[in-house]
Amino acid sequence: MKELSLNILDIAENSVKAKATVVKILIDETENEKENTLKITISDNGCGMTEEVLKNVTDPFYTTRTTRKVGLGLPFLKLAAEQTGGNLKIVSKSKEEEKTNHGTAVTACFNKNHIDFTPLGDIVSTVVTLIQGHPETDFIFIHTKNKKESAVLKTEELRKILGKDIPLNSFEVITWIKDFLTESYKEAVDK
Ligand SMILES: Nc1ncnc2c1ncn2[C@@H]1O[C@H](COP(=O)(O)OP(=O)(O)OP(=O)(O)O)[C@@H](O)[C@H]1O
Ligand SMILES: [Mg+2]
Repeated sequence: MKELSLNILDIAENSVKAKATVVKILIDETENEKENTLKITISDNGCGMTEEVLKNVTDPFYTTRTTRKVGLGLPFLKLAAEQTGGNLKIVSKSKEEEKTNHGTAVTACFNKNHIDFTPLGDIVSTVVTLIQGHPETDFIFIHTKNKKESAVLKTEELRKILGKDIPLNSFEVITWIKDFLTESYKEAVDK
């Protein structure tokens, strides 16, 4: 995959498939003399993985899907992280293990200085695509650079303002979200 934003889309789709009601996407960049890193965390309150699934999940020939024999979302993200000298970590508690506190958190760390680092790419499109495709799911998106927020979007807050009658995937709302995020990034650069 040419852009990390596409990997993020894939991993967040896993969360939706796991019936999560809230999916959190955090992007955290640190840039100083010692460090130039990007950390992506995607966490959800979905059904979680059993230990068996968790053990095998970064093996491309393991999948619980029945339509195809390979699952590539997590193996691809792991490869992208490791080829920069970074890593991938998955923490998951299944519904069977944890009645109320179940869910999954996937964290990938990247060294941006590495020649094999894949750029983040069009993250605004990823967030917009997720909301458009899953208007009932709540998404929390926070992108920080050196601890300063460059873009933040919480669909729960939009939902409160819009009320019950306007779905998040209506044309006007989607256009607004796209413009809002694009502007946030522009302002963050100008600062
Ligand atoms: N957030 C999650 N919650 C629960 N289970 C998950 C989650 N993410 C992944 N899994 C489990 O791990 C398996 C592998 O995920 P992966 O994204 O690598 O492949 P896939 O979703 O099966 O196929 P693909 O992403 O290629 O369409 C999934 O089939 C699912 O069982
Ligand atoms: Mg997947």
